[in-house]
Amino acid sequence: MTVDPAFLDIAADLARREPTPFYVYDTARLRSTCRSLRGLPTRARVYFATMANAHPRFLEVIREEGLGVFVNTMGHLGRALEVGFEPGRIVYTASGMSEALMREVRATGAEVNLDSIGQVALWRTLFPGQPFGIRCNIGDRIEARETRAGFFVGPQSRLGLSGPELESVFGSPDIHGLHLYAGTDILDLRYFEAAYRALLELVPHFPALDYLDLGGGFGVPGPGQDPFDFHGYGALVAQIMDDAAALAGRPLDLVLEPGRIVGAEAGLFVCRVTDVKPRGERQLVGVDASSAQFPRPLLYPDSALHPHALLPTHGRDPGPPVPSQVYGCSTYSRDFLVWDGALPPAQPGDLVVLGQAGAYCASLRTEFLGFPPAPEHYR
Ligand SMILES: Cc1ncc(COP(=O)(O)O)c(C=O)c1O
Repeated sequence: MTVDPAFLDIAADLARREPTPFYVYDTARLRSTCRSLRGLPTRARVYFATMANAHPRFLEVIREEGLGVFVNTMGHLGRALEVGFEPGRIVYTASGMSEALMREVRATGAEVNLDSIGQVALWRTLFPGQPFGIRCNIGDRIEARETRAGFFVGPQSRLGLSGPELESVFGSPDIHGLHLYAGTDILDLRYFEAAYRALLELVPHFPALDYLDLGGGFGVPGPGQDPFDFHGYGALVAQIMDDAAALAGRPLDLVLEPGRIVGAEAGLFVCRVTDVKPRGERQLVGVDASSAQFPRPLLYPDSALHPHALLPTHGRDPGPPVPSQVYGCSTYSRDFLVWDGALPPAQPGDLVVLGQAGAYCASLRTEFLGFPPAPEHYR
């Protein structure tokens, strides 16, 4: 896994003018992924999952590219309205909503997907006859897989209506949408297909459907993996929506909620080497940043494998990579930005650049340890 050299040049150039650490986003890359999603062969309503990145400039680009947003808090819903998204371009899907929150969300005019039988009962009491969607836990209809961050369907997932609960609302005239989120960071289209086909089995039982919300979960490639197959995915959802139309007796809208794939490759995190500790074959590279500012390695130490590169100062020939760990400038023992990597021998003043940093990175930052948020620059 490498960082695109053209993108590295952007990072190096900015680091000459701006203090490190920082995030930098390439808006042309961001726009290009938005267009791939909008260009799917079947007409899709695409709502970016703001939990992946809720920076106002990021959301502006999303809006300019014609996507809507999927939010799961009033904080992000408010941000989306501020950035200029029409309420009709906002989907709200959460769980355990209080009565007050349900009223607040409803008042904005956003589309809502509900997570449980209890939430459906509450909605019906508050807004009789008003349409909503339901989150379907189709895990008893497929072999549920654990994806990053656990199970999103099946008995091990806390989310959605279970099989018997779904059966108890069959025939409801106020249920206008079926929502599914199969998991995250998925590159294997067969898993999407299995999950989508399980959702299709429910379609004949809901007479008033307008849409199928197939969620997000589109993966970005790890070491040795191919990029997400947009072409194959497009063919898959075209077929799924044809089958849905046959089952419903009319065309249904396709709704997607991509998060990670939209911005991951459009962002870099850039920090500067402050210290180097030789440890046998390995080097420990200290930087002027922390996993509190770049938290995925903190949350997923075994699987958050970000492409990384060293940019030596003064045009020094970097030499061949050696086993390397990159650590943050705190005293916290787990403060690593790279747990198990390879970089050329580093010197203080060099830059360390981490790729795939545009999703679930800046938005995950934590106040733990007291580091300020790293500034975010847009190119
Ligand atoms: C309901 C729902 N939709 C969409 C997303 C975005 O997922 P991803 O970033 O995997 O595409 C999430 C993320 O957790 C989610 O919970």
